[in-house]
Amino acid sequence: MKRIGIIGAGIRGRLFAEVVRASPHAMVAGVADPHVRPEWIGETPFYNDHTQLLRQSALDGVVVATPDYAHRDPVIAVANAGLPMLVEKPFATTTQDSEAMAEAIVRNAVPVTVGFENRWNPHLVRIREAIDAGELGRPVWQQAELSNTQYVPLEMLSWAGRSSPVWFLMPHTVDLVTWFARSSVTSVRAVGSRGILRAQGTDTWDAVQALLTFENGSSATLTSSWVLPASTPGMVEFTYAFNGATGAVRADVIDQGLTVLADELRRQAPLGGPVGGQLVGAPVWMMQSFLDSLVRGAFGASGLRTGMAVTATLVAVEESLNTGMTVVPSKLPGWLPDAVATADDPGEAGERSATAP
Ligand SMILES: NC(=O)c1ccc[n+]([C@@H]2O[C@H](COP(=O)([O-])OP(=O)(O)OC[C@H]3O[C@@H](n4cnc5c(N)ncnc54)[C@H](O)[C@@H]3O)[C@@H](O)[C@H]2O)c1
Repeated sequence: MKRIGIIGAGIRGRLFAEVVRASPHAMVAGVADPHVRPEWIGETPFYNDHTQLLRQSALDGVVVATPDYAHRDPVIAVANAGLPMLVEKPFATTTQDSEAMAEAIVRNAVPVTVGFENRWNPHLVRIREAIDAGELGRPVWQQAELSNTQYVPLEMLSWAGRSSPVWFLMPHTVDLVTWFARSSVTSVRAVGSRGILRAQGTDTWDAVQALLTFENGSSATLTSSWVLPASTPGMVEFTYAFNGATGAVRADVIDQGLTVLADELRRQAPLGGPVGGQLVGAPVWMMQSFLDSLVRGAFGASGLRTGMAVTATLVAVEESLNTGMTVVPSKLPGWLPDAVATADDPGEAGERSATAP
């Protein structure tokens, strides 16, 4: 039985705990969160401080699901405890945090999965397979929109004012366009607007659009908004387009060919969560893959380099938003060991494990 610790007992911490509890090979050995103990934790030991969890729970692996800006301290503590971890996206929200976390991870040689759950999303895995099979030719341009209704920043996330569409949504699309381009980002130009959320007490970007160029000459435009109207069916919009030299793909990533006309969230991925008594969906399969790696004692490519590269691109998005200039993302530190650099080449990191659905 693998003993899993969960740091951050919010929406994602709870989902991952459910996946662990549904596994015959793992158990939730402890949960840490500085705030009140949520009811779903039941009899599981609970700590207000993640260092206590790490000291007292004899863990085999850890999930870090704290708010976007609060991954650094738990990740460094988990690395120093020598434990494999799944850390939610974004890996970090500053270059300083990213490098400090990577230093601890590399020094302790711990496996890391960064929560780029779309690597387990069948829509997107199929696109990558079409690209790899040469069905679409070399990448020319990509376009991705991942947005939320105002419910997410104003009601769902208590810390939205310390995040933004850049940090909450764009990690997914930056990861995807990099994975599909099979190339590194060379420049970023971003524009955005503010005011709608600020007027309601959450001072952050309403919407951001970014133009990315890649080393291979292709480009991508990304849009992420936190101000979709409440009348949007479901709280997420996610569309994606790839144009290659010989073919193209268009995807409505949310659409599953099934619409449940029951409430205002009817388009919210009805084929996610429990279906036929089984937990299904990309974040579930990602967590199951992490557990599977723990049980087998063998991890695939580390997500470290991808996590850091996505953070570097998003830091550049923020800088471009603030300066109005085109920004070149900072290079990853030269001290990342070759083994990590090779396994983690853009386009490779976070590959689905052979056992993922
Ligand atoms: N909610 C989603 O749909 C979603 C999807 C994908 C990824 N994520 C990512 O998952 C992470 C968590 O998001 P969430 O939606 O679960 O947020 P949440 O607010 O529901 O939960 C975060 C929890 O972390 C706790 N916390 C804060 N600081 C902490 C610390 N230092 N140590 C331990 N716990 C701490 C908070 O008290 C809270 O209970 C974020 O990085 C987010 O971007 C969320």
